[in-house]
Amino acid sequence: MINRFSALILALSIVLASCSREESGGATQPTEGMNSEATWAKLTPEEAIDPFTHANYNDVRVTNVDLDLEVRFDEKVLVGAAEIDFERLNAEATTLVLDANDLSISKIEAHSNDAWVEAEFSLGEDDPVIGSRLEISLPDGADRIRVTYSTSPEAEGLQWLSPEQTAGKEHPFLFSQFQPMLARSMAPLQDTPAVRMTYSARIQTPPELIALMSARQDEGGGRDGDYSFKMSQPIPSYLLAIVVGDIEFKAINDHIGVYAEDYILDASAAEFADTPAMEDANAALYGPYRWGRYDMIVLPPSFPFGGMENPRLSFLTPTLIAGDKSLTNVVAHELAHSWSGNLVTNATWRDAWLNEGFTSYVENRVMEALYGEDRAIMERALDLETLKRAVAEADRPELTALKMPADLEHPDDAFSQVSYAGGMFFLKFLEERFEREVFDAFIKGYFDHFAFQSITTEDFLVYFEDNLWTNYPNAVTKAEIDAWIFEPGLPATIGNPQSDAFDRVSAQQAAWLGAGNLDGIETSAWTTHEWLHFINTLPSDLTLENFAALDDRFALSASQNAEIAYAWYMKAIPAGYEPAFEPMDAFLMRVGRGKFIYRLYQKLVDQEKRVWAETVYERARPGYHPIAQRRIDAIFSE
Ligand code: BES
Ligand code: ZN
Repeated sequence: MINRFSALILALSIVLASCSREESGGATQPTEGMNSEATWAKLTPEEAIDPFTHANYNDVRVTNVDLDLEVRFDEKVLVGAAEIDFERLNAEATTLVLDANDLSISKIEAHSNDAWVEAEFSLGEDDPVIGSRLEISLPDGADRIRVTYSTSPEAEGLQWLSPEQTAGKEHPFLFSQFQPMLARSMAPLQDTPAVRMTYSARIQTPPELIALMSARQDEGGGRDGDYSFKMSQPIPSYLLAIVVGDIEFKAINDHIGVYAEDYILDASAAEFADTPAMEDANAALYGPYRWGRYDMIVLPPSFPFGGMENPRLSFLTPTLIAGDKSLTNVVAHELAHSWSGNLVTNATWRDAWLNEGFTSYVENRVMEALYGEDRAIMERALDLETLKRAVAEADRPELTALKMPADLEHPDDAFSQVSYAGGMFFLKFLEERFEREVFDAFIKGYFDHFAFQSITTEDFLVYFEDNLWTNYPNAVTKAEIDAWIFEPGLPATIGNPQSDAFDRVSAQQAAWLGAGNLDGIETSAWTTHEWLHFINTLPSDLTLENFAALDDRFALSASQNAEIAYAWYMKAIPAGYEPAFEPMDAFLMRVGRGKFIYRLYQKLVDQEKRVWAETVYERARPGYHPIAQRRIDAIFSE
């Protein structure tokens, strides 16, 4: 029986199919192969289209890119060429459409009948969200094109640091951040997660610097300014990545290691010493790591994220180096993306939960395997609080279901805690209903089945129905699943992680507030998580005397643990607790991680500390990443 939802999809597909162009080669037959018994249906290519790309990837699809680029620090540009292979899905297609953002293109040639001939192209206007459309006329039989170009010094996906902005102070530094759609500011590409490609690169740098990419580096050479890379597994463009700087390496085992500036190398290797055990735990659950080496690089503090899962080389913020491994769930997270995200990829940013929700779930399973259930529960409990806040603060209800709405304004909107913690709690719900052993085997099968593919939420649902739900039809209802995926708000079936450790912290907090002095409070065994719970749950009417008492005893304003310091400042701002402001100033000057600084600036502005915040931002802004500058500029221009 066709239920209401499938009927709607079917009707929609027919309408879309009938107004789609003929030449899309029959790919728009919505009912073909559709099981009329099925609960959910796959999307047609038109329905699954990524709105954040200009690319005509359903007609002509990029399969490989070979980059040849010179890194010019004096001009802050990459100069060179990109050679691009593609396949024609539609034999009649005569153009290849790529994405470009702030690129200066001097020439485009096409390889046809064994010769390179100049190709006509047009570069469209710069759309503020998705950049420019680069349309290239394809001569008959062309199978490869070459674009000669340079990037802009303002390329949003690249940060160029002067020597003064590095720890070593002697050499400049360059790093990329391309997720979700900034690879197009480094090279002309079909910059959508729906398209997967292999790549190679030759990168020339000043001879004293090292270049690294999200790919296998050719052996030999050493530090000579001429580096070659190859990624032979097909990846989406947002996983391209490059770093250039005065970087050192320390091995953790024979295929895992860490790169960093010298000052933090040993501390990083010590902090991340459990990475091999994380890999083992991941592999035991979901099958072998398929990317060869796994290295990490600890970037300068302006890196705007906690971590970024670039294949073979996760990028990490130095704020993870707490000295006690308490923040290494971020490593577990980025490593987990080697299965969820990099192997099986969201086809559009509307499906971001397939990347981030799955990864948050796997991360939590790995943390449980390594450090025990108590820690995993504490991390979930902290996540549930931020999820509730994200749902309450969402700009519109559609942004609180896992499948993001068709009219999503910007891919960034898909990366709230809804996709992360919401996705994780959804998978926890399934794990509980189908039982762990069965569910683990299903997820492993899912990664194998869709390995090296880009898929939509609907592909997941169809696979889920065929491979799990059919076998245990009473474990969940359609309504329960739909509530998670398609309906706004927190589903009724969400779990409630019960942490005994947090309960003990809460009891101590209550006793302290009741007694009015801190003498009875015993914190020596608290981990970072317990501190975070304690700070996050401080009552909003806490007196300035209470703030001062806590600070005197526990030096929270001066905490070198970035998570603890951040949580404390978020409480200190609305309370007007002045002694926190000087250390907060130093924090905002030192830390460029978006998760902390966006919310701090926002809170300062909301709490009438705008003038103070502006003076800090004026000093800090030149050191922030372009992505962070754009976000914080927007906060001040509200
Ligand atoms: N892929 C994300 C980072 C990202 C998301 C970059 C969206 C650009 C757009 C990465 O895996 C991530 O989720 N990092 C988190 C850490 C995690 C433990 C929640 C972060 O940066 O805080
Ligand atoms: Zn992630």
